[in-house]
Amino acid sequence: MEIIHLSAECYPIAKVGGLGDVVGALPKYQNKLGHFAKVVMPAYNNSFLIQNEFEVVYDAWGNIGARHFPVRIFREKTNKLGFDLYLVYIAGLTDRDRVYGYDDDTERFLAFQIATLDWISQWEHRPDVIHCHDHHTGLVPFMVGNCEKYRGLRNIPTVLTIHNAQYQGQFGWDKLHELPAFDLWRAGLLGWEDDINPLASAIKCAWRVTTVSPSYLEEISYSANGLESLLASERAKSVGILNGIDNEVWDPQHDPMLEKTYNSRTVENGKKANKAALCDVFNLDPTKPLFTFIGRLVGEKGADLLPEIFHNSLAHSRGNINILALGSGDPVVEGKLLELKNWFPGVYNAYIGYNEKMSHQIYAGADFILMPSRVEPCGLNQLYALRYGTIPIVRRIGGLKDTVVDIGDGGFGICHDQTSVWDVGHAIGRAYDLYQNKKHVKDILKYSMQIDHSWDRAAQEYIDLYQM
Ligand code: ADP
Ligand code: GLC
Repeated sequence: MEIIHLSAECYPIAKVGGLGDVVGALPKYQNKLGHFAKVVMPAYNNSFLIQNEFEVVYDAWGNIGARHFPVRIFREKTNKLGFDLYLVYIAGLTDRDRVYGYDDDTERFLAFQIATLDWISQWEHRPDVIHCHDHHTGLVPFMVGNCEKYRGLRNIPTVLTIHNAQYQGQFGWDKLHELPAFDLWRAGLLGWEDDINPLASAIKCAWRVTTVSPSYLEEISYSANGLESLLASERAKSVGILNGIDNEVWDPQHDPMLEKTYNSRTVENGKKANKAALCDVFNLDPTKPLFTFIGRLVGEKGADLLPEIFHNSLAHSRGNINILALGSGDPVVEGKLLELKNWFPGVYNAYIGYNEKMSHQIYAGADFILMPSRVEPCGLNQLYALRYGTIPIVRRIGGLKDTVVDIGDGGFGICHDQTSVWDVGHAIGRAYDLYQNKKHVKDILKYSMQIDHSWDRAAQEYIDLYQM
């Protein structure tokens, strides 16, 4: 099958969170199954574009409403990513340093979607499926099905994967004219409540809808930032497919970013060396358990509670644990996490920012990773942690619930029910007790490092879905 993945992120070209990881891996594994999966994404101003070789496959004019712009689509020449990569360059719109966060994000992603469909319309053949990821590509199913100029694409099946229903990309009806022409009586397919809502539109118009874990599919029927009833009514065409991880990128045995590589047999020494290196850099104590948090500092992740959780646990443990945080987001949380450094020197540290290499080193060097998420559609951190022999401490929600089993149930993680200071503090206490039982920890790591979360399974599940 020929599959076109449309996304705002794709590792290693541009990654803000797990969406990038998924779109950088799923197509590769679909190709390994004998299919022909490609990724089409906006061309941002980043080093990937400068450092790699491309050929121009499309050079034309596009428009949103009355605004016309030149479009160029570049294909990466070497196929070194394991899939064909196409970057859509729209001068003045896609060419920014960051992926998101601009006032004109609506126009940026709308222009990207329109330019991409203009290009596909000119192909001599039709792809077997267009797979859209999140709201940034959410208007594609509507446009394919309803816009006059894409009449030739109408029979191409579209799939929407919801990585996170919190973000929907809403904008006002005053921008309706920015979409290519269609019969206005179909406008209802674009809207939700008072806005044009790209995520809602994709849920209505895509032939199939997927979520990134089965539990998240259950949860969004009662908690989806306003889309609950819509998701419930489209439930018959929806399915939850648990994300995988890219075992080639996330492999402690061959990870070039680590101080020392290791596998499930050599995990004790391997982690010891990585922890020592990490503690050296961050002025922490390698003889004590190391707890970490890696992620976006936003409410969904429970990040607002972290300063208080860290403060309490460090104070109660009387210096017997270390904590290291890596993340960026809410400036208030960032400030509080930095301030804690003054209170607990030698056992606490925080790095504010995004640092891919450091994240690998922390997965390898930490003993426990905290994920007190309020919302977690899948979560990849706990899967990377398991593979690197770091015990996940997670709230029982979404994909965390589907992937982590509590040690009390014979499992390999520590689970709690609420995103609250008390629940997480209690979980950290349980982890501290577990840490004292070296034999139990060793058995857990040997087992958890070998759990198979590779993309092989999920890549096939998506193929089965496309075939339907
Ligand atoms: P989400 O996509 O909601 O942010 P996921 O758990 O699916 O959450 O994926 C997060 C991804 O982003 C992981 O690969 C994680 O290692 C990475 N990540 C998050 N914050 C940072 C950071 N500050 N530095 C490096 N990597 C980060
Ligand atoms: C989203 C979700 C996260 C998921 C990721 C990849 O960013 O917040 O839970 O793992 O997408 O699907």
